[in-house]
Amino acid sequence: MKVIITEDYEEMSRKAFEIMVETVKNKPDAVLGLATGTTPLGLYGKMKEDFKANGTSYKNIKTVNLDEYVGLDGSDKNSYASFMRENLFNGLDVDLKNTYIENGSAPDAEKECERYNEVLSGLQQDIQLLGLGSNGHIAFNEPFTLFGTEVHVVKLAESTIRDNARLFDNIEDVPVKAYTMGPKNIMRAKKILVLASGANKADAVYGAVKGEITESLPASILQLHPDCILIADKEAAARL
Ligand code: GLP
Repeated sequence: MKVIITEDYEEMSRKAFEIMVETVKNKPDAVLGLATGTTPLGLYGKMKEDFKANGTSYKNIKTVNLDEYVGLDGSDKNSYASFMRENLFNGLDVDLKNTYIENGSAPDAEKECERYNEVLSGLQQDIQLLGLGSNGHIAFNEPFTLFGTEVHVVKLAESTIRDNARLFDNIEDVPVKAYTMGPKNIMRAKKILVLASGANKADAVYGAVKGEITESLPASILQLHPDCILIADKEAAARL
């Protein structure tokens, strides 16, 4: 794994932007694996600015998102589908028909997992962006998820519900389950770009880079990927 330590969040976002935009320029019909959370917001802001200023086009780009809350329709303001439209897609020329994510309001969860697995099997990510949960989760793969798992429904860890409550009006509104790509879907990406910022990610970053490769820390599987770059600001990298 290649590790880049930056002075701050801004520099982390800028370096991530350089990698992302290079992928898009080299391959205008690339498949981008995208993530939610506050960590990638700086990167997404830079992609939108660059589109406005330089016209880097996303019209033939396809995107696949990592995860979605079970029970939230894509029109719900707290769904990850809305998050992506508001924080990225609305500022680019991406065709929304080419943006893929689990359907949080699907009537049959098992069928929805099968459907999304099939979508993913036809769309290998040229690059997969990842954040880290403070407990070392990637997407919504909580500790002890088997590394061979594909798209599935998870019961969210208490710590994840607490971490994500800040994005909801009340902690009671945070769904308790989510759809997520499994480690296996993530590891299939040609390149993986992990971003981490802030002291509360320091343990997860340590586990991802230097810890034992173990299902108790899902991000540790990234050590096995042949082309993984982790960009952490100095607070997140404090334990390296
Ligand atoms: C959620 C998402 C993850 C994300 C994590 C960290 O749990 N499912 O994909 O990496 O939050 O979020 P943040 O970037 O806000 O710290």
